[in-house]
Order: sequence, then structure tokens, then C-alpha cells
Amino acid sequence: MKLEISGLRFSYSDREVLDHLDFQVAEGEFVSILGASGCGKSTILKLLTGVLTPENGRISVDGKEIRGMTEHFAYMPQNDLLFPWKTILDNVCLYGRIHGNLESARKEAMENMAAFGLAGYENAYPSALSGGMRQRAAFLRTALCKSEILLLDEPFGALDVITRGEMQDWLLSMREKMNRTVVLVTHDMDEAIYLSDRILILGGRPSNVVCELRPEVPPQGRSRDWLYGQGELRKQIHREIMKDGGGAGGSACPPERKAHGTDL
Ligand SMILES: Nc1ncnc2c1ncn2[C@@H]1O[C@H](COP(=O)(O)OP(=O)(O)OP(=O)(O)O)[C@@H](O)[C@H]1O
Ligand SMILES: [Mg+2]
Repeated sequence: MKLEISGLRFSYSDREVLDHLDFQVAEGEFVSILGASGCGKSTILKLLTGVLTPENGRISVDGKEIRGMTEHFAYMPQNDLLFPWKTILDNVCLYGRIHGNLESARKEAMENMAAFGLAGYENAYPSALSGGMRQRAAFLRTALCKSEILLLDEPFGALDVITRGEMQDWLLSMREKMNRTVVLVTHDMDEAIYLSDRILILGGRPSNVVCELRPEVPPQGRSRDWLYGQGELRKQIHREIMKDGGGAGGSACPPERKAHGTDL
């Protein structure tokens, strides 16, 4: 198993966020995590990357327990975190610089700038870009990192619906070509259905995985037409998330941020 999480427990001072959290991700698998705002999705990714330390439980990669920060993960945090003093190209090539393959990183970055709507902005600074452009640059930086497991925290949340669709298509084609293991946190049910092998739903207080769903992909593969026909799965996801009043955010979560509609 590529990634195994067992019995994970974490609290922020007096607020228990996660307990008895167990899930596994196979090599090359794409798993999405859905759940109401405040239920602990970003916290899970921060525990994986070592930004936070679990109180209890175990995280393993390829069967070996890991602790603290490791080289296994390429992480795109929920806020874009581009360095304001570096150009877009330098930001996108950050991991290439760290891993000593800057030249090939620059080449790969330049090849992808147009697909990410960033052509002509290579030498601009983040402050000159829109929020959506910054998010695409942060996504490109993460996607170009060669670590085995991609951790994406709402990577397309700030994008308009058309660009979001284009980025999802790009991610889908990349996963088909590159066989990367991906854990995606999202509020967008369609995004989860379109891209995932498995969808994990978080719920309870503190949160754990309350439900696991697997989209049935036809032999000819995923397409937007196939996605539009997934009404039943969408309903099921919505029901699961709403079961305990919109998820683990519960009283800890401001009412205006609770799940509603289709974009949870
Ligand atoms: N640094 C912190 N200190 C104290 N509490 C925190 C901190 N960060 C997050 N929390 C709380 O922990 C809970 C889980 O937060 P987390 O950011 O993991 O939620 P989330 O599921 O990612 O939410 P969203 O969908 O809104 O991004 C929330 O109740 C939040 O208020
Ligand atoms: Mg979050």
C-alpha cells in the first residue's frame, strides 16, 4: 500500500478534530476527501506533510512509518503561498531548484505555461496576477514536483467554472499519463466524481471516515457526459455529508460555512 493512515488522532488545544482516522491509498490511486467546512480535511494534509504532528496513530508510506517532514509528498496548501519576491517561473520551479534539477524544471515549466494560462507571465511577480492565476501557478508548481504523492487542498477553489474544468481535465490527463498517487481535498462533488477512484467522506465529532464511495467508470473512460449522468452518486454523497447536520464542523463551524447546495 502506498499510503496508510491508522488510528490518527489530532486536536488543536482543546478542540478534538480527528480521531480513529483510518484510510489507505494504493499506488497510482486518486482519492478525494469530502466533508463539511471545518471537519478537518486540511488538517489531514498538514499531518501527512509533517506541518502538524499527530497525538496518536500512524502514517506509513510503502509500509514504513514516517514522522515529521519527508520527501514523499508534493503539497499544495489551501492558500496559494507563492513567494511574493520571486517571479512566476521561479515560483513554479521551486522544487526543481531544491532538488538540483533546475534546468529540466524550467523546460517543463515553460512547456506547460500556456496550458495553465500563464504564458507571458513567466517574469511577472505574484502581485501582478489575479487570484485564479496565482492558484494555477501554485498548482503547476505542485504538479511538477516529482514526489510520489500529490496532496492537493482545494486546488481549483478560486477558479471560474471554465478554467476549473480545464484544470480538472489537465489533472485527469496527467494522472492517466503519469500514474501519480493523489489525495485531493475538495468541496466540489463533481470534481471528486470526475477525478477519483475513491471518494472518502468525513463526518462525526471528532471526524473520521464515515463513508467510502467508488464511481463506476465505463470502459471507454471518464468524460463530461458520463459525469452529467452521475446524479445518483451525487445524491448519495450529499446525503452522507448532511447526515450529521452538515458534518463534523457542527457547532465548531460558523453556520454560514456549513454545507449546502452541491458545492459543499
Ligand atoms: N491553527 C488552528 N488553531 C486552532 N484551531 C484550528 C486551527 N486550524 C484549524 N482549526 C480548527 O480545526 C478544525 C478543522 O480545520 P480544517 O482547516 O482542517 O478544516 P477543513 O475541513 O479543511 O475546512 P474547510 O473546508 O473550510 O477548508 C476547524 O474547526 C478549525 O476551526
Ligand atoms: Mg481546508
